[in-house]
Amino acid sequence: MDPVTRLGVVGCGLMGSGIAEVAALGGLDVRIAEATHDAVEAGRRRITASLDRGVRRGRLSEERRDRALAGLSFTHDLSDLADRQFVVEAVAENRDIKTDVLCTLDKAVEDPAAILATNTSSIPVVDLAVVTERPAQVVGMHFFNPVPVQRLVEVIPALTTSQETVRRTRDFAGQLGKQVIQAPDRSGFVVNALLVPYLLSAVRMVESGGALPDDIDQGMELGCAHPMGPLRLLDLIGLDTAQAVAESMYEEFKEPLYAPPALLRRMVAAGHLGRKTGRGFYSYHA
Ligand code: 3HC
Repeated sequence: MDPVTRLGVVGCGLMGSGIAEVAALGGLDVRIAEATHDAVEAGRRRITASLDRGVRRGRLSEERRDRALAGLSFTHDLSDLADRQFVVEAVAENRDIKTDVLCTLDKAVEDPAAILATNTSSIPVVDLAVVTERPAQVVGMHFFNPVPVQRLVEVIPALTTSQETVRRTRDFAGQLGKQVIQAPDRSGFVVNALLVPYLLSAVRMVESGGALPDDIDQGMELGCAHPMGPLRLLDLIGLDTAQAVAESMYEEFKEPLYAPPALLRRMVAAGHLGRKTGRGFYSYHA
């Protein structure tokens, strides 16, 4: 099978914009679908800012940035993804929204052999595959934040995914310069199944008054050489996303360590979602 040249990305938040950026830098024609004009503009700004930063830091030439930007197009309409060979959905971590997007994409994308990949962090891939008429071509493709930096992609075959789809998805991840691990279709896959209980334990430590956020983070950064401690990482991931992931995992296993602590829920309710809203466990206002 030829390499993918026409990619669709649905959702241009943190993950979708990162996926689109990496693909455009790889020379692909990338069409991004977002629901609203404001979301399109925010996504465009995020990608442009990230590419500009690459130029400022000398990682990227201006020509390469401009070529990547020229390879990106935006739409509000999923039917504009009709000619795509491969589509990655990266909308909010919400089962109803993802189901809706997969159903619509399935009808919109003309080539029945085209692959629909979901960047879900925790929702069982099979649940999303069976809402389409092409469950053999639906697969999990889980990227990590920030996508331009993190080398890993988890490829998650559902019970319904064909071997050919797995092979093409692995090849596509390689085309983007990513390293693949294959993960089981159980909520949390490999990485979040290990990471989320650790992050939630840090929240419980703050909640119980056991330690201050900065001490917890410094502990893991200086003591274990993690690039960022668990609370800084939660602020990067987004507390709403972390809560949604924890809820899916708790729903599947009823494991108390996966249950979102009350403090996390209260912070999400208050809109303290981390870096993206300027406030989480830390404040990001200039
Ligand atoms: N695009 C490209 N490069 C970037 C980048 C971006 N958006 N953000 C950071 N970088 C790179 C650059 O090379 C940058 O160097 P530069 O300063 O020369 O531009 C370098 O990272 C350092 O960046 P910062 O100066 O911003 O410094 P930080 O030390 O804060 O690094 C980090 C940021 C890369 C995020 C690093 O702290 C890190 O790796 N943290 C851990 C992230 C992690 O664990 N991610 C996984 C989250 S789990 C997940 O995504 C799964 C989901 O399902 C929940």
